[in-house]
Amino acid sequence: MTLDLAVLVSGSGSNLQSIIDRVEAGVLDARIRLVLANRPGAYGLERAKKHGIPAVCLEHGDFPVREEFDAEMVRRIREHGADAVALAGFMRMVTPVFLGAFPGRVLNIHPALLPAFPGVHGQRDAADYGVRFSGCTVHFVDEKMDHGPVIIQAVVPAYAEDDGDSLGERILALEHRVYPQALQWLAQGRLEIRGRKVVLAPAPSAGVATVGDGMVNPSLESGF
Ligand code: GRF
Repeated sequence: MTLDLAVLVSGSGSNLQSIIDRVEAGVLDARIRLVLANRPGAYGLERAKKHGIPAVCLEHGDFPVREEFDAEMVRRIREHGADAVALAGFMRMVTPVFLGAFPGRVLNIHPALLPAFPGVHGQRDAADYGVRFSGCTVHFVDEKMDHGPVIIQAVVPAYAEDDGDSLGERILALEHRVYPQALQWLAQGRLEIRGRKVVLAPAPSAGVATVGDGMVNPSLESGF
């Protein structure tokens, strides 16, 4: 099945770019119907336009309450024909108004190994804590911040010399692989939520190879 996807951004949009690239490479079975930003300067909007993808900015400050902002996002997303949503560096919490419109179809990526280091400074907090490993997490979104059921995590080493920027750079390179992979699983209908856990159904075609990349990327498939 082809995923009709909206991608929500607030900034650079490098994760958006990785999703666009995997779609264009034919390994992610999705149509990006809309890129939506909550900040006019979000470079993700430019990336979308360069690839002929509809791009809309809705400034959250123009709405009196979160629910009204969310309702307008839902309206725009539906209007463009999307029924699944990837939050990709989208720096806003979404409310039940939003989640109820796309049940089980809103994903987020976080630059740490949840439940460690939630929040907006996951990379810096992990580096400052002195962890030996960190990474990224793609998860279903629920009403709490950086909290919903985990779909995939990938691990990178962290060193004493790291700060948030150097660790973040290492993590970001992996984000660009795992997010498209998680979205492909969603497109294939292979993700089943059982309570807090996500069960990944086997690949539909027997020919899909699992890339053995040691403990870092245990479940990335061919092309990701
Ligand atoms: C990424 O690190 C993502 O995990 C976090 O925000 C950052 C967005 O980067 N939620 P980009 O806009 O995709 O480049």
